Amino acid sequence: MTTVPVSYASLPRFPRDFVWGVSTSAAQIEGAVAEAGRGRSSWDVFAAQAGRIKDGSDARVATDHYHRYREDVALLRGLGVGAYRFSVAWPRVVPDGGGAVNAAGLDFYDRLVDELLAAGVAPVPTLFHWDTPQALEERGGWLVRETAEHFAAYADAVAARLGDRVERWITLNEPAELTLLGYGLGQHAPGRRLLFEALPAAHHQLLGHGLAVQALRARGAGGIGIANSHGPTWAASGDEADTSAAELYDLLLNRLFAEPLLLGRYPGEEWDLAGMLPGPVAEDLKIIAQPLDWYGINYYQPTSVGAPREAGGGAPAEFAGIEIPAELPFAPREIEGYPRTDFGWPVVPAALTELLVSFRERYGDRLPPVVITENGCSYEGIEDSERIAFLDGHLRALHAAMAAGVDVRGYFVWSLLDNFEWAEGYARRFGLVHVDYETLRRTPKASYHWLREVLREQARQD
Ligand code: NOJ
Repeated sequence: MTTVPVSYASLPRFPRDFVWGVSTSAAQIEGAVAEAGRGRSSWDVFAAQAGRIKDGSDARVATDHYHRYREDVALLRGLGVGAYRFSVAWPRVVPDGGGAVNAAGLDFYDRLVDELLAAGVAPVPTLFHWDTPQALEERGGWLVRETAEHFAAYADAVAARLGDRVERWITLNEPAELTLLGYGLGQHAPGRRLLFEALPAAHHQLLGHGLAVQALRARGAGGIGIANSHGPTWAASGDEADTSAAELYDLLLNRLFAEPLLLGRYPGEEWDLAGMLPGPVAEDLKIIAQPLDWYGINYYQPTSVGAPREAGGGAPAEFAGIEIPAELPFAPREIEGYPRTDFGWPVVPAALTELLVSFRERYGDRLPPVVITENGCSYEGIEDSERIAFLDGHLRALHAAMAAGVDVRGYFVWSLLDNFEWAEGYARRFGLVHVDYETLRRTPKASYHWLREVLREQARQD
């Protein structure tokens, strides 16, 4: 039996109806890529290309959750979470992205939802977590408008099947990362390096979100949100060149995705962003800006950003494993003075408070109740005291933001299981539960036991 550190008893109290959950995504855990009529995804194709995934792996088996979902739901029940955020794989449900619905693909999610409900865990499906049907990718993927329209039809099919049992929905996961890493820098599927010409992928994802919200509401669904990645951007210095580079980065990572949704407009008149986007942007913004029931934030770390240095001036050609093209008008810098995860990401819980308070200040009453839809860290080992310290620190930081007046309704740990961490392969372990990739055996880590005690303690306090 793993020993449980004692800090849980002293965590501050969260509200009685606060939602505690964990998150995963289809492409990272399911495997079974050729089963029950599933079509190919952009990640199937990307991972099969030489040199794309650092450890040379792919996600054809991943954690084999598709076959082991009962065991995984039992782990959720054992943990005591009230909710589970997973994603539905679009290529399972509509194998070529825009054609007929594959009922056998939906069957899996039907079984999963029933299993969750029987375990007393609320299902929170994300409709899109980066696994674009390859057939659509070959026609331009999110760079073209028709993908947004197909996405809404797919959302309708999922709602028709699961809507009688699902009370909270997430449309998209981190459209910023797909735009930046997938279409801008080529680090993720589909591996395009379009730099600023990737911006249409942002607009079409946001439009797809809006159309999907309409489709869900037309089916009577409520509890609709989105999971956007956000983090504070810190200027590398007070110099004008650094502050304005940091402002642009903040605009691209945070404001570009929050403001169309919350304010119904694109930010940054000085950069004329709207002028770089395709389609009837003003009309589209009306679709994009429909009211949300809640706003999901994935938070991992702050970013320090400065102006790109002159050649030979020591600018990092690579940052966090990502090659940064010299032509970008900003450059991320290392943040010193904090512990780091195995991924090298700085651990800065106070930046979560800063982020939430700044969102509240920026958007005021336009910001609906917030849910932290992801927060977590990669560390090796089953006795993962660093993960416990990370979660403990971030829960305190979250509570501080709530005490400062930010309306936060839930917190989801990334992730239930170790899984396929995209271009990093299996080398980064984010799970509360360890997965042995030889045997696929699941072993709860110390952090799993710790979180279970936290949840028990929170439930006892009333
Ligand atoms: C955000 C993504 O949504 C998720 O898929 C990923 O594994 C985590 N960040 C960790 O990098």
